[in-house]
Amino acid sequence: MSIVVVTGAAGFIGSHLAERLAATGHEVRGIDAFIPYYPRALKEQNLTALAEKPNFSLYELDLRTDDLSEPLDGADTVIHLAAQAGLVRSWDEFDSYMTCNIQATQRLLEAAVNADVKHHIHASTSSIYGRFATGDETSPAAPVSPYGITKLAAENLCWAYAQKDALPVTVLRLFSVYGPRQRPDMGYNIFIRKILNDELITIDGDGSDSRSNTFVLDCVDGIMRAMEQPEVSMGETYNIGGGQEVNVLQVLDILADLTGKTPNTTHGPKRPGDQRRTVADIAKARVQLGYNPQTTVREGLAAQLAWQRQA
Ligand SMILES: NC(=O)c1ccc[n+]([C@@H]2O[C@H](COP(=O)([O-])OP(=O)(O)OC[C@H]3O[C@@H](n4cnc5c(N)ncnc54)[C@H](O)[C@@H]3O)[C@@H](O)[C@H]2O)c1
Repeated sequence: MSIVVVTGAAGFIGSHLAERLAATGHEVRGIDAFIPYYPRALKEQNLTALAEKPNFSLYELDLRTDDLSEPLDGADTVIHLAAQAGLVRSWDEFDSYMTCNIQATQRLLEAAVNADVKHHIHASTSSIYGRFATGDETSPAAPVSPYGITKLAAENLCWAYAQKDALPVTVLRLFSVYGPRQRPDMGYNIFIRKILNDELITIDGDGSDSRSNTFVLDCVDGIMRAMEQPEVSMGETYNIGGGQEVNVLQVLDILADLTGKTPNTTHGPKRPGDQRRTVADIAKARVQLGYNPQTTVREGLAAQLAWQRQA
């Protein structure tokens, strides 16, 4: 088994991935700076199961400033999930997006080269495509938010290091992820929280915006497949998404059914930088990596609801 560094290990996706890696016997080194975009207490909860794993260690380090040589020493694979996520706040808090998404990526790449890492897997986003993210990986990159722009810059940094230092890189463009531990700023988390608390839900626009959201364990499966098949995935970019397209109104209908409560809704203006339709074309990951997301939206929402009920 190998040594795998997971950045952003205390976050939503990173904590699930670290659990899967630890369960499969890898030595997992998590890095996280507990950036206060959402409360530290939630991230500490994300780490509860990992704290008991002898093959997991946490390094509380900031990728922007701290020495990264210790966690990267002898590492086989780096999976870079740490970032300033969430597009809405990227208009007002640009510094954090610029430094956590671009500068942090550059420092990590330098450290990966110095440590002679064998495979660097970079988590990118469908936001790099812009308003419509419905094509394959060759679709033009046209981000419409500062978040998407910083994430595209980070992808490009990876390819620059791949060329300059022969660093073996894979880029995974994740499409909206949901499930237990979803960040509190994300749509499904807000919908569920408000339905459970009988609060008013403001739908941005008419509710017809659609997504093929990815259940978090399907996303983890996509990342694992890229890691386990380096001979296929190195030098490649893959869309990693869910298989089922739903719009906001359909999601609210499913949640009404699962909770037995009718959501109290109103409509507000669309948010600047929001995407209209993101439906992952995952054909390349299906064919090359055998990626095959299994979770229906109803099953995934039920799992997230159960988690939010007990949180
Ligand atoms: N959640 C989604 O729907 C989604 C969709 C597409 C892409 N992504 C990408 O997936 C990755 C993980 O997203 P998430 O939803 O789990 O976010 P998250 O905020 O829950 O996790 C990210 C973690 O990175 C850490 N971090 C940020 N900057 C850091 C730094 N400078 N040094 C060390 N740690 C730092 C944060 O403290 C946080 O715990 C991100 O790269 C994001 O852009 C997420």
